Amino acid sequence: MTDPALDAEALRERAVASLITARDRTTLLTSCVDGPDLTAQHSPLMSPLVWDLAHIGNQEEQWLLRAVAGHEAIRPEIDTLYDAFEHPRATRPSLPLLPPEEARRYAADVRGRALDVLEGASFHGTRLTEAGFAFGMIAQHEQQHDETMLITHQLRRGPQALTAPDPEPVPLFTGASEVLVPGGPFTMGTSDEPWALDNERPAHRREVPSFFIDTTPVTNAAYQAFIEDGGYDEPRWWTADGWSHIRRNSVTAPLFWRRDGRQWLRRRFGVTEVVPPDEPVLHVCWYEADAYARWAGRRLPTEAEWEKAARHDPAGDRSMRYPWGDADPGPEHANLGQRHLRPAPAGSYPAGESPLGVRQLIGDVWEWTASDFLPYPGFRAFPYKEYSEVFFGPEYKVLRGGSFAVDQVACRGTFRNWDLPIRRQIFSGFRTARSEAV
Ligand code: AVJ
Ligand code: FE
Repeated sequence: MTDPALDAEALRERAVASLITARDRTTLLTSCVDGPDLTAQHSPLMSPLVWDLAHIGNQEEQWLLRAVAGHEAIRPEIDTLYDAFEHPRATRPSLPLLPPEEARRYAADVRGRALDVLEGASFHGTRLTEAGFAFGMIAQHEQQHDETMLITHQLRRGPQALTAPDPEPVPLFTGASEVLVPGGPFTMGTSDEPWALDNERPAHRREVPSFFIDTTPVTNAAYQAFIEDGGYDEPRWWTADGWSHIRRNSVTAPLFWRRDGRQWLRRRFGVTEVVPPDEPVLHVCWYEADAYARWAGRRLPTEAEWEKAARHDPAGDRSMRYPWGDADPGPEHANLGQRHLRPAPAGSYPAGESPLGVRQLIGDVWEWTASDFLPYPGFRAFPYKEYSEVFFGPEYKVLRGGSFAVDQVACRGTFRNWDLPIRRQIFSGFRTARSEAV
């Protein structure tokens, strides 16, 4: 028997802890550089860090203070500055943004009031507050922008501002390179994960024919073999769009890589290092992932294949929250939460493997899938169309699994990310698959 009062207290604690974890990370990301670095635009692809900071506060104000608690706007005139749809990223530095100190004060003010709302919140009644959804959504939103800010840090030129210990070294992975996922239906998406976002819903059955999938993400060493084999000079490995994109933009290696004689170097958060051979490849676009897979005689997994590999438990014919089961992620399962500033070597986290032995599905690198970002049957936009619905269509490709920069509150076996096929400043890698020969 569950006691509803205890459940409410547990939910409240989880919501408070998730909001605090997110804010600690935001504070770290916006205090490790000084004022000019917060207001500068480090790449036209990104907002100034100070925009993300106030946008985090503004989103929290709109949903937790105004929508949930019915408060009046604190500063109605700033809403439009922090509306992602009114101002494209490239134009944000020229807006009259709140300066760093004011942005910090605004976000802290909103947070203080949001915690008061949370203190007295009932987790029943409306869909927005049911099981604390709005609080979970806002913690996820802040963590998503924390990952965005970490990308900005990676693009930023200048000395190192962030440090973290490296993942534990592991012996070279010598297990099977792929596993067979037997054909049959499985349950994709979720209807009962309380903080799952609209695009992960509802749960529905999908038929997935048998296929093979890589046990680990594709490594830098494997990707270098593609480069050395002239992969970027061979149109037959590329889609027509991919080929014209890499030619027009002189793409010849993953972003941040530079050839130095016979070896490859790369820049990571202000530090240049030799590309580590056994780490999952990072900063490749969908076109590069797709071309590599074709060169290797393989293909990218579809989104349904990826999720079946990550969640289906063949023993119980049920879908789990994570590859290892239903338990929340621990440090033994996956590389999440910016605990490290890089992916862990391929084959790490045996405790996080799926029942069939697929590793590192969660954490390390976002994994490109073959699939366009589309709604599931029965999808309903909630609570706002601009989270998912306006992005549905063939121009966006789905990424799954989360990177080392994703916090666990924003990471589940059902979580869906998406981006344009040319994007590679994100923490993106991939694994490959193949259909079972008939
Ligand atoms: C889900 C990562 C594609 O950053 O564009 C943040 C998340 N949505 N604020 C993004 C998001 C609104 C979104 N992604
Ligand atoms: Fe946002």
